Amino acid sequence: MRRTARGVLLRNWTGASTVPSHGLYPHQWSWDSAFIAIGLRHLSVLRAQRELETLFTAQWEDGRVPHIVFNPAVPLGAYFPSPDFWRSSSAGAAAGAPAATETSGIVQPPVHALAAWLVHRADPETSRRRGFLRRLYPRLAAWHRYLTDRRDLGGGGLVAAVHPWEPGMDNSPCWDRPLARIEPAAPDTFRRADLDHGAAEDRPTDLDYGRYVRLATEYRDARYRDAEAPHSFAVEDPGINALLIASEHALASIAAEAGPPAAADGHRERAARLTAALLERLWDAEAGQFLCRDLRSAGSGLVPERSAAGLLPLIVPGLPDDVVTALLRTATGRHFGLGSADVRLVPSYDLCGEAFNAKRYWRGPAWFNVNWLLERGLRQYGREARADALRTAILSAADSSSLAEYVDPHTGRGRGARDFSWTAALALDLLTSTGPPAQTPDREPALVHTRET
Ligand code: SER
Repeated sequence: MRRTARGVLLRNWTGASTVPSHGLYPHQWSWDSAFIAIGLRHLSVLRAQRELETLFTAQWEDGRVPHIVFNPAVPLGAYFPSPDFWRSSSAGAAAGAPAATETSGIVQPPVHALAAWLVHRADPETSRRRGFLRRLYPRLAAWHRYLTDRRDLGGGGLVAAVHPWEPGMDNSPCWDRPLARIEPAAPDTFRRADLDHGAAEDRPTDLDYGRYVRLATEYRDARYRDAEAPHSFAVEDPGINALLIASEHALASIAAEAGPPAAADGHRERAARLTAALLERLWDAEAGQFLCRDLRSAGSGLVPERSAAGLLPLIVPGLPDDVVTALLRTATGRHFGLGSADVRLVPSYDLCGEAFNAKRYWRGPAWFNVNWLLERGLRQYGREARADALRTAILSAADSSSLAEYVDPHTGRGRGARDFSWTAALALDLLTSTGPPAQTPDREPALVHTRET
């Protein structure tokens, strides 16, 4: 298993970063790279550092880290939307897009500070010698500032996603209502490349794609300026915000190690403010989980759909006990089936939901990054036995599915791409590291005092 995972990471390395999969995703993706670096640190700490450094060389001057960094050697037709659609170097110039590298204009969840801290911990000496954190810290801080300052579209202190690709869970049923208001781009105005590599039944529909294209076009035509873009899709997602909080805690550790020492407290305070806003705006006690908030609906209400993103705040340190208990009850209940005999891995969406589909991308299949994060969260909150069982289940599904992109949550059968980089990386991580320590009774954030290898 270790050998297979390493082989995938070696084959998917392109010289300065890693492709998620050579066929379906032939460029560098933002949150993929963060998860990939977490696994790569066990294979080559230098490559893990390089993975993140390469991504951040494409950071925009306004602080955003684009969700795709395009490889100019890959033909335009190999992936859609291609650089000539996004036109970052021209349309994004006012927002500070790089002139020499083409990127997309939207973002993905901020897993990067967490990844950078774990990569540093794998070999602190090499990291210090290369000035890895010292160079990355200001970029990570600017990235988080972009999210908190420019993307608080609801005014309540949380980050809003402006495109369904931003939370990383592209066709989640949570977006069905917010997307229903979007007029899809005409089918003959674009050509999907994903269907050349993935089965249509595993991928989003053409109607979804029409809406993705419309939203991205609107953002591009507003020159990617958040104050001026219509942002007709604007959703506060618990996954993005939970990952930002975990990364703020990691940034506090990074600042203490390599930034201005006084900055560490600022990051901890920001994490505390974000945590309070997350609880205030997205916790639904009746559902026993966090939900998404649709800022463009009448009354800006919560979306009554259960996504696994609503369980991801388990990675946030210092949640109230009753919230943790309720999250555990929901994760292990009929909606997500964690630990039950007929569920291999936690699904991306409610097993009992009307829209559940065991095959189609983020409408039911189980994903390895989500399950890796939940394993971490369980361990953080002292649920060691559950975490151990989930770890075993993740490794078994990764192995039997040939390191698939995602799996049927009931059968574990692989779907989407195979030899998928973050699946390999996170399997390698689970095979190698001990995970975060349980939260101490005085509620010190676990990520600050990580004892990982
Ligand atoms: N996940 C999207 C895709 O399928 C965009 O990042 O291409």
